[in-house]
Amino acid sequence: MRDFLENEIPYIKFKNVSFSYPGKKDNLIFQCNFSIKKPGFWMVVGKNGSGKSTLLKLINRIIKPQNGFIDSRANIGMVFQNPDHQILMPNCRSELLININRNISQNEINKKIEYVLNQVGMTGFEKRPVHTLSGGQKQRLTIACALISDRNFILLDEPTALLDQTSQLKVLQIIRNLTIDHKKPLTALWITHRYEELTYADAVAELKNGFLSSWQEPSKFQYN
Ligand SMILES: Nc1ncnc2c1ncn2[C@@H]1O[C@H](COP(=O)(O)OP(=O)(O)O)[C@@H](O)[C@H]1O
Ligand SMILES: [Mg+2]
Repeated sequence: MRDFLENEIPYIKFKNVSFSYPGKKDNLIFQCNFSIKKPGFWMVVGKNGSGKSTLLKLINRIIKPQNGFIDSRANIGMVFQNPDHQILMPNCRSELLININRNISQNEINKKIEYVLNQVGMTGFEKRPVHTLSGGQKQRLTIACALISDRNFILLDEPTALLDQTSQLKVLQIIRNLTIDHKKPLTALWITHRYEELTYADAVAELKNGFLSSWQEPSKFQYN
């Protein structure tokens, strides 16, 4: 499945998707229609509690909509707000190793580790213990883990919320570069409540009162 998808352009499509958590009568997501069909830097902005993480859980099929349907064909990876909730191993190499397809030679494994560390600006960090990394470096390691497992569609749930401004910009820039890679551009869906991050996106939508707006260019984006 993974190899099969590797050279395809991933896509997701929501058709009239509605969702509410058990015991809540109001729809948190209401008749949501959108699609992402090409690589690029896609951002969804919304206030705390607007349902952004829920939207990602629907995309990831962790939860199922009560109404509507979700069509997708993508090898989805996740980057969460807090990398400490995601990183399991004591150093960068071992963390990358648990994410790699082990069906390749040792030489290829080493090359791939070097390649993805370079892609996230962490060349030479292979042996570094995770506890010596900054928050931003840990977040970049989680991105490298998604890349090394050949994910072609990465969902990032407020990945800069816990970072200082320098690290925040670095992570934004890395994702930006990955989405414009001329050989194999990534599809990234970035969730944020920080409006200043929207300028990095190719397209922006706002989640509000259960509705997701249509995609807009960041320069034309208006929020209420
Ligand atoms: N597992 C759950 N069960 C019930 N309610 C939940 C659950 N997860 C989230 N919620 C509620 O759904 C709303 C939206 O949550 P969430 O999707 O996490 O929003 P956001 O990521 O935009 O802050 C919140 O009011 C939250 O309390
Ligand atoms: Mg959230």
